[in-house]
Amino acid sequence: MSDAPADPALRAAYRLCRRRTKSEDPAEYALIQLVPAPLRPALHALWAAANALDDLGDDRTAPAAERAARVEAWITALHRELPTGTSPDPIRHALVDTAARWRLDLSELRDAMAQVREDTDGRSFTDWAAWRTWGRDNLLPWFGQVRAILDRAGVPVALRLDTREAYEEFLDGVRLTDILTDLSADLAQGDLLLPEEALALHPGSADDLANRRWSPAVSALVTDLTGRARRWVAQETLTRGMHPGPATVLQTMAALLHAQLDAVEAAGPALLRARPRPALRTRVRILAPARTRAALAWSLTPLTLPPHHRSPDAPRQPAAPARPATARAFRRPPPHPSGERPPVIPPALLPAHVAVIMDGNGRWAQQRGLPRHAGHRAGAHAVREVVHGALEIGLAHLTLYTFSTENWHRDTEEVDAILGLLRDEVAEDPFRDLDVRMRWHGRAGRLPPDLADLLQLRERTTRGRTGLTLTMCIDYGGRDEITRTAAALARRVRAGHLDPDRITDEDFARHLPHPDMPDVDLLWRTGNEQRTSNFLPWHAAYAELHFTPGLWPDTDRHHLWEAVTAYTHRQRRHGTTNPDPLPR
Ligand code: IPE
Ligand code: IPE
Ligand code: MG
Repeated sequence: MSDAPADPALRAAYRLCRRRTKSEDPAEYALIQLVPAPLRPALHALWAAANALDDLGDDRTAPAAERAARVEAWITALHRELPTGTSPDPIRHALVDTAARWRLDLSELRDAMAQVREDTDGRSFTDWAAWRTWGRDNLLPWFGQVRAILDRAGVPVALRLDTREAYEEFLDGVRLTDILTDLSADLAQGDLLLPEEALALHPGSADDLANRRWSPAVSALVTDLTGRARRWVAQETLTRGMHPGPATVLQTMAALLHAQLDAVEAAGPALLRARPRPALRTRVRILAPARTRAALAWSLTPLTLPPHHRSPDAPRQPAAPARPATARAFRRPPPHPSGERPPVIPPALLPAHVAVIMDGNGRWAQQRGLPRHAGHRAGAHAVREVVHGALEIGLAHLTLYTFSTENWHRDTEEVDAILGLLRDEVAEDPFRDLDVRMRWHGRAGRLPPDLADLLQLRERTTRGRTGLTLTMCIDYGGRDEITRTAAALARRVRAGHLDPDRITDEDFARHLPHPDMPDVDLLWRTGNEQRTSNFLPWHAAYAELHFTPGLWPDTDRHHLWEAVTAYTHRQRRHGTTNPDPLPR
């Protein structure tokens, strides 16, 4: 049975994407050949789109401002076209169709796409950390789309948390190998996408590269960098426990990257003049057995293929709300349903940090004869309300106790329901258009990996927002936080960086999992209980406490406003005899 779309223009669009992938990146094309045929068009579309955008940003026949404008126009057009499912541009046509068919959330690519526009002004990095952030911001979201497709096809590539760092480092290796491979082309246009930290280790190398002079410093730099890239792409743990289909693709990718790095090293001075490529026989030696292994691996799992959409002329449901790809103009939160307006609280009196123990979901459900999970669902609505209320009064930090380390002791059914609801909320991303920076605070390694993935994605894509910092405490326990901090301090002592007799409060605070989280000024618990249940013991040491009888699902933003107003009437002494000795 053919899996081709009925629309001839769309078929041609996908063919174009395949041809471009094949001619511009044969290694990528060969890797895509290792996945089952029905998945390939979507991967060609993603690859061709990422590259079309890069090419627009990189086309040096135009000045930087012009290139930036072209990238912007491409992104804006994409977002306009997404809900329509079609585009006059064949690559975007294939991409919007892929997004609709596989239910991809392309807004996750927003920052990666915006980066291409920003890069038209040139890039420099002081150190590896800055370089890594840049590379990961670009690559991770695109790889995330590929993983989403595999997920929808029934072959999830959920990464265990302990392999996440290996995965991200692997992608650092992909990026560094690319940069080494493209060195001659980049230098020809005056670009050098390496951190100053790496160049400084080989004095003179930056100048020599700028003048395209092969010197001992440059040679040593290349040896250093290829060694680093080899270490990054050699991630044995990465594919452990993974479905053999994607595992084969990743292992083959690593082998091709190693071959590419061999070619970089063997090139010597020619590296500054042309793109090195491994010999054809080397590639065949890697790819031929991989094809056999891949065919066998994929045959183990039947794939779920979503149907093709109707002809593009027919009206469709929007796949995702159209919104500008790069605009940073945030929406205002919707008003309180009653029209109630927020109290005007002078910023100096506002608590900097409100933390909430959202208690009473279970009792709310029981009172209505409903299962407990109905209470948690209603509680999710209250979260939205309170976040809107926090934005309206200009709160800087709101931290919500969402799932405690002790909550694992509840029935599996309830735990699954809570985590499932959380997953749905984070996936739906109700705060995406608001100025909310989202963070996750809690233990890594025990949450379902796809939920952890989503939380980290939200954290990454909202990192630059400056409105409200919303910290979700999930699998959070105060004792766990303190214990991990103590372990971090112990490691510093063992390494000889810290004297145990001189450890101060500040040292401790600097080793907390979120060292930038301010002290809690106001700790509010709903649900008529007067305890803190292992919540933020370090940060809430001097918090004002506020307990309210109502159950969390009955909470709305005016309860937050009441709590904050009550706080403004408290006298804080912090151990002295003067009220408010500390600036708020
Ligand atoms: C708080 O509500 C939510 C979580 C702990 C996840 P509860 O589920 O504790 O509700 P009650 O206290 O049983 O009413
Ligand atoms: C605290 O509520 C945890 C969260 C709100 C996530 P609990 O309902 O679990 O607390 P206890 O058990 O009553 O102390
Ligand atoms: Mg409770």
